[in-house]
Amino acid sequence: MKQKIFAVVATSENRAIGHKGWLPWPEMKCDYERLMTLAYHKPAVMGRLSYESPNQFLSNNQNLIITSHKIDDLPDNCTTVSSIEEALKYYENEPEICILGGQRVFESFMPYLTHIYLTLIHTVAKADAYFPEISNKDWHLINQESFYAGEGNPLDYEFLEYQKVKE
Ligand SMILES: NC(=O)c1ccc[n+]([C@@H]2O[C@H](COP(=O)([O-])OP(=O)(O)OC[C@H]3O[C@@H](n4cnc5c(N)ncnc54)[C@H](OP(=O)(O)O)[C@@H]3O)[C@@H](O)[C@H]2O)c1
Repeated sequence: MKQKIFAVVATSENRAIGHKGWLPWPEMKCDYERLMTLAYHKPAVMGRLSYESPNQFLSNNQNLIITSHKIDDLPDNCTTVSSIEEALKYYENEPEICILGGQRVFESFMPYLTHIYLTLIHTVAKADAYFPEISNKDWHLINQESFYAGEGNPLDYEFLEYQKVKE
């Protein structure tokens, strides 16, 4: 069976994902809750800057951190790898892998992704990190739920689920 390689990401309407290491919008409870639901128990991959970010999210399964540096005091369930190829090899027998970002990691994994779980935050954010374009040619939108702002979520948002068009 084909391995499921999925990204879990929150973006603004202009595809922003980060600004100076932080998320570029006020704290949104829905983003953290969706990560907990979709990613918390899965083998995960992230870039060194996302690992070091104040918004760091770790799976309670295995976490691979892509870096060319040595990272001190890594938690027991974290391992460094030097490339996406090494990450894919490490997880070759896992049925599912979760890609947690940031920009450079999402860009590198884009050709390998089979699913994208996107939380679309309804704002236009100033940013220095972005998610790649999701083209209609390559991706089917298979699920969409819309929510109004409310307690813990100061902005309107949507949960979108994309599946890669089969080649
Ligand atoms: N909104 C969201 O859902 C979300 C999710 C995650 C992160 N973010 C945001 O995204 C921003 C960080 O993104 P970023 O692109 O700057 O950093 P990043 O992808 O988290 O990390 C970049 C670092 O990871 C390593 N790396 C990543 N891809 C690699 C590759 N293909 N080959 C070799 N090494 C690779 C390199 O580490 P070395 O320099 O150590 O070699 C690189 O400097 C932050 O603002 C964060 O808050 C947002």
